[in-house]
Amino acid sequence: MGSLDTNPISLSAFPDDKAVFKPLNPEDVRAYLHKAVDFISDYYTNIESMPVLPNVKPGYLQDELSASPTSEAMLVTLVAARDATLRRSGSIGVSLLPRLAVYAADQTHSTFFKACRLAGFDPANIRSIPTGPETNYGLDPAMLLKVMQADVDTGLVPTYVCVTVGTTSSNAVDPVGAIADIAALFNAWVHVDAAYAGSACICPEFRHYLDGVEHVDSISMSPHKWLLTCLDCTCLYVRDAHRLSDSLETNPEYLKNDATESGEVTDLKDMQVGVGRRFRGLKLWMVMRTYGTAKLQEHIRSDVAMAKMFEDFVRGDNRFEVVVPRNFALVCFRIKPSGAMTEEDADEANRVLMENLNKTGKAYLAHTVVGDKFVLRFAIGSSLQEERHVRSAWDLIKKTANSIMAGSYFVL
Ligand SMILES: Cc1ncc(COP(=O)(O)O)c(C=O)c1O
Repeated sequence: MGSLDTNPISLSAFPDDKAVFKPLNPEDVRAYLHKAVDFISDYYTNIESMPVLPNVKPGYLQDELSASPTSEAMLVTLVAARDATLRRSGSIGVSLLPRLAVYAADQTHSTFFKACRLAGFDPANIRSIPTGPETNYGLDPAMLLKVMQADVDTGLVPTYVCVTVGTTSSNAVDPVGAIADIAALFNAWVHVDAAYAGSACICPEFRHYLDGVEHVDSISMSPHKWLLTCLDCTCLYVRDAHRLSDSLETNPEYLKNDATESGEVTDLKDMQVGVGRRFRGLKLWMVMRTYGTAKLQEHIRSDVAMAKMFEDFVRGDNRFEVVVPRNFALVCFRIKPSGAMTEEDADEANRVLMENLNKTGKAYLAHTVVGDKFVLRFAIGSSLQEERHVRSAWDLIKKTANSIMAGSYFVL
């Protein structure tokens, strides 16, 4: 039984010359899939000669693999924070729960608010703190302090603060360090949701977005969003894994085994809601081993450079505006009101632009609402995206905008 070759030198995606990195070179994909089929067929051919249980010792893969619990990141950290707070007050499972409060900016992904409800927090104590253009839609630490203090004054117990680095809507960044300092005043758990932008932080030039992360309790990032790993794969790092297992551990007789009893293994079932789970970490490990740090950084940088190019196109055309400063590879832009056009007209023009563009089947734009404005989102991130695609998408956007603005719909 062999093993799959993860030597990137053998792949044509890694040419000797300085050609552009193409992570999904079709011939490499074909060769890899052939090898994978051979591997699986050999496995089933030889299965009867293999031991029923692998003869390995806990930790044997430590140097090469480190499996992380995946997904449910916010839910399991919320449960752990909830129980830690209840335990501190000596009232686990009883009356204090209705008084626990959680905090996040209004730009936070909806999954946070869903996870809070699943973890049993009273919806009346889930704070969605308003943000605005003055902080580029990031959470204002002074406002957070005010809200938390006001809650304490009315007898609530701050329990958890969610900080987002790279919001879904506009890629806003909450200031991690400043928020961690405030949460520390109240002994609240701080979780960083870096689902999307965490991938960018493999490049030193983006790492400052995580300044202060050494003071938080947990951080999650999803390589399936921007690190060449297919759906789904989320990594959760926790400062103290025992705080998860204190809440989620189960120990039924039928799951007892020597490895667990020895205390030498990390039982991932004690850090998640379910017991069984696919080995998602393997995909990420393959990606890291196949491409290596330098190529993955190149992938992020080239996406950011393409987004910057698109941003420059938008800024160079005075019919359009960039609505929030670009941080990563998402450009939030729109047709801006001009002449007799009202804000409402501009919203409608942008909606029609998006719909007409998407109908062509040649590009796809999603939208959001930022500061009450209907905004178009141009996101770079597909593994196969190249500069020529961005240029042709911009040409199509201009052409579609021309026809909308020249049409009877808007008399400018
Ligand atoms: C910043 C952010 N957080 C959380 C999520 C949700 O993650 P999941 O799909 O793993 O629930 C997303 C998905 O778009 C996201 O962009």
